[in-house]
Amino acid sequence: MSKGSGQVKVFFLPSERCADIVSGKSIRQAARELDVGIEGLCGGEGTCGKCKVRIEEGISPRYGIESRMENLSPLTKTEKKLLTSGQQRDGYRLACQARIRGDIIVSVPEESRQVNQIVRKAAGDITVELKPAVRKYCVELKPATLDDALGDWERLQAELKKRFKLVNLTIDYRALRSLQRVVRQGNWRITVSLWMGREVIGVEPGVVENSYGLAVDIGTTTVAAYLCRLSTGDVIATDSMVNPQVSYGEDVIARINYAMTCKEGLEVMNRAIIRGINDLAGKTAARAGIKRSAIADMAVVGNTCMHHIFLGIDPGYLGQSPFPPALHRSLDIKARELGLRIAPGAYLHVLPVEAGFVGADNVGVLIVEEPYRQDDMVMIIDVGTNGELIMGNRDRLVSASCATGPAFEGAEIRYGMRAAPGAIEKGLIDPDTREVRFKVIGKDGGNTELDQVGAGGICGSGIIDAVAQLFLAGVIDRTGRFNTDVDTIRLRKAEGGPEFVIAWAGETSIGQDIVVCQQDVRNIQLAKGAVYAGAKLMMRRLGIDKLDKIILAGAFGICIDKESASVIGMFPDCAQEEVYAVGNAAGDGARIALLNVDKRVEADRRAREIEYLELTVAPDFGEVFTRAMWFPNMEDSFPHLKHLLPGFKQGLAKGREG
Ligand code: FES
Repeated sequence: MSKGSGQVKVFFLPSERCADIVSGKSIRQAARELDVGIEGLCGGEGTCGKCKVRIEEGISPRYGIESRMENLSPLTKTEKKLLTSGQQRDGYRLACQARIRGDIIVSVPEESRQVNQIVRKAAGDITVELKPAVRKYCVELKPATLDDALGDWERLQAELKKRFKLVNLTIDYRALRSLQRVVRQGNWRITVSLWMGREVIGVEPGVVENSYGLAVDIGTTTVAAYLCRLSTGDVIATDSMVNPQVSYGEDVIARINYAMTCKEGLEVMNRAIIRGINDLAGKTAARAGIKRSAIADMAVVGNTCMHHIFLGIDPGYLGQSPFPPALHRSLDIKARELGLRIAPGAYLHVLPVEAGFVGADNVGVLIVEEPYRQDDMVMIIDVGTNGELIMGNRDRLVSASCATGPAFEGAEIRYGMRAAPGAIEKGLIDPDTREVRFKVIGKDGGNTELDQVGAGGICGSGIIDAVAQLFLAGVIDRTGRFNTDVDTIRLRKAEGGPEFVIAWAGETSIGQDIVVCQQDVRNIQLAKGAVYAGAKLMMRRLGIDKLDKIILAGAFGICIDKESASVIGMFPDCAQEEVYAVGNAAGDGARIALLNVDKRVEADRRAREIEYLELTVAPDFGEVFTRAMWFPNMEDSFPHLKHLLPGFKQGLAKGREG
């Protein structure tokens, strides 16, 4: 096929998927069309370097392809930066950069193959008074006669008023259309679903006792759904998935860019998330043995960007100072307006947002943990692709968002990967021998020994452990630099500077040593420094110098080792027994809002009361951040870490000697 125009053939290995595509598309776009999963933690922005593929040159008689390097666009600056000279020589390209101009055979190496992330978003134990938005009422109507031919709706209203003192009711148009049939099917006995005590949103023949609701947490990376019985509050089925928008951008900034720069980008991502939630609704309903149309209510949380895209609202303004959201308050709209396939008359409640980058997910955490009812000075950290922080007590609360970057998710780390089978998620380095022991995530998502599954990379919790252990073993110093005097064969000089071998090639599934390099340490320093600096500025705003409690919310909080996080200085000093994880508190917040309408009102009120601190404009941010880059910090003391850092001298002057 001639280069530069028309159709060209692309053949992917090892999946053996082949198709004709329009010339000029990137390898990443072609892979997406053919459903070939290639990693791309930056969403094609050209920053993560995870989408490496190798071009096979030669002729494939089976597919009639003559594959040549010249059939691709020339190496871009990004590729020259992210690919080593050896990789460039061996025919490696970045799938998001290389454009296809002629027939090509693309081999996707194991480390670049997309794997399914382990989604850890189990429902936590919550106690909440039941006061759902939807309640069922069963009534028996007097059959219409020639002498009494009152309309069915008026007849139903009169009966509801007489029996339950329900007045001023309205009826959903779809419910109205089915009313006459349902009344007669039930032989004049029907059950109505009433929303907020004022609108009949559904009618069913006969006596129907149970009603159901779905709580949904839309995370940037994962989406979790909890199907609940509204009359008891029980979670009867849960399911979760990787957010289908991930292939359009790994973090919120990449999604905002996609919405702004791609034609129909917003619509494409909106359709993807609606399809995904419909899928979760169908699966949870099937698992619980009910029809999806029995789901009569839904409550949704998500960060402000996910919230906007889900509602089909342009997230573009969230990316521009002063980052205003389209709306702050909560929203009730018909689920069908968004294309959600649950009960036809059902409403959807979307929790309020606090600010451009502190969203409804944070409000969910707020109404679960209720720091506004506590005397203790509490800090809540929810680290995902973005860090959201809450700090304070019953007197005053502040929130902030910090740009952690995706390092904690395994992106921007040379051998970083998602928390998927094969990821190193825990590590231990002997301080004397510098030998390494590590655990990888097994095929079923649990820990496993190496003989069952080889390591393919390091996920967020693994890299935090590795950096903490390297620091404790003296391999890196307090500034984050490798100490090249340390005597171990694991520490070596490489093209890009020193690196430490965590797993030898023979212990991996990718046939290469898995290392932590200087840039990886720097990226973790930037991420943890951002969280720490945010916390420090919030403490200054509140006029406090110590925290009583640190709560780690979100799936990441369950996975990370709190000691490792403390050692690298991810958050200010606190008694270790007062640092704990609470699981997916945002999802629990969605459930609470589903089960109790008073909590919806509380969410609106508290979201407006909390003071939002914009860290990017704080004059002392730069200085605090620079100090927070040190391990654990350049000047702050950590009395609760004395047992872990026996040689660590507290204070700025001494710290520099330490
Ligand atoms: Fe290609 Fe990140 S560099 S997807």
